[in-house]
Amino acid sequence: MKIAILPGDGIGHEIIAEAVKVLRALELPFETEFADVGGTAYANHGHPLPEATLALAKAADAVLFGAVGDYKYDKLERHLRPEQAILGLRKNLALFANLRPAICHPQLTHASSLKPELVSGLDILIIRELTGDIYFGQPRGRRTAVDGHFPGADEAFDTMRYSRPEIERIAHVAFQAARKRGRKVTSVDKANVLETFQFWRDVVTDVHAQYPDVELDHMYVDNAAMQLVKAPKKLDVVVTGNMFGDILSDEAAMLTGSIGMLPSASLDASNKGLYEPSHGSAPDIAGKGIANPLATILSAAMMLRYSLQQADAADRIESAVTSVLESGLRTVDIASAGTRTVGTREMGDAVVAAIRATTTTITKTTS
Ligand code: IPM
Ligand code: MG
Repeated sequence: MKIAILPGDGIGHEIIAEAVKVLRALELPFETEFADVGGTAYANHGHPLPEATLALAKAADAVLFGAVGDYKYDKLERHLRPEQAILGLRKNLALFANLRPAICHPQLTHASSLKPELVSGLDILIIRELTGDIYFGQPRGRRTAVDGHFPGADEAFDTMRYSRPEIERIAHVAFQAARKRGRKVTSVDKANVLETFQFWRDVVTDVHAQYPDVELDHMYVDNAAMQLVKAPKKLDVVVTGNMFGDILSDEAAMLTGSIGMLPSASLDASNKGLYEPSHGSAPDIAGKGIANPLATILSAAMMLRYSLQQADAADRIESAVTSVLESGLRTVDIASAGTRTVGTREMGDAVVAAIRATTTTITKTTS
C-alpha cells in the first residue's frame, strides 16, 4: 500500500504530521510519499498542482490531503491559485463522490452553536457530487454583455450543468450508503427554479426505483439550509450537487461543535480516494501549534476503511479519538469549562497513546 501525503498550506503541515504519526502507530505495512501542493507548490515549483504531485497521487492507493490556500496567493491568476490544486486533483482522479459525515460526538454537544437537544446524537452523511455542476461547467468566463439588463457592460458567467450518468452514479452512492444506515435519503435541489436541478430530481427519482427499501424525499436547498438548523436530526443521508454540497456541508459541520472535527472522503468509481479534513488551511492560526488535528486523523481512518480495506485499523483510530475526548483533552476550538486545552502535537500524541494502550490490551488478552 502506498499513501501519497500532500500537506499543502497553512495548518496543513501541522495536522498532517499528527495524522501520519497516528498511522505509523498502527504498524501496518504501508509506504508514504510526500509532495508539495497548493500555495507551497506554487512557491517551490511555480504551479499549485505540479505534474510530479499529480503523478504521485495517481500512482498511490490513496491520498491524504491537508489543506490549501493562503491570503498571500489570492491575487494570483485563477489557474495558479492554491484552490486549483484540489479542484485539479478531484477532476483528474475522477473523485466524483464526496462523503462528509457530520457526527456530533457526545462529549462535544455543548460546543455546538445549537441547543444540545437539537444536536445530541446527530449523525448526518452529506454526499456531495464533486466533479460537475457550476464548479466545472463550460463555458465560463468574462465578456461584454450583448443582452441582459446592461448590454455593452462587462459581465462574467459560469455554467451549471449535469448529465444523466453523473447524477445516476452519485445517486447510487447515496442509496447504497443509506442501506448501511437508516435507509433514508434526502436529495437537495432547486427544482423550483433551475432546469439543471429539475433534471437532478427526475434522475434521482428514476434511480430510486432500484432501491425500494430506501425512503427518498426531495428538499429545496433553501429549506434544507433551514432544516439543518431547525431539526437536523430528521436528516440522515443527504445527496446534493457540488455547489449546494459545498455550502450545506460547512453548515452541517458547525452543528457538530467544530469544523475541526470533521473528516471527508472523495472517492472515484472504484473507491480509490482522497481524504482531507473538511476545514481549510486556516492561515490565521498556522504555525501556532493550536490547530485541531482530529479531522485529519479521522480522515486517515476513513482512508483505511474505504480505500485500504483496513476497517479494524479505522475502528482503532476512531475509538482512540473517542477515548481522548472522554479523558477531557481539547484543542482550543472545542474547549469548554472543565476540559484541558492542549496543542496540536499533544492531541496527536494522546491519540497515539490511546492506540498503543489498546494494542497492549489486545496483546495481553491474546497471549
Ligand atoms: C471544500 C472547499 C473547496 C470547494 C475549495 C477550497 C475549492 O471549500 O472542499 O469544500 O469549494 O470545494
Ligand atoms: Mg467548502
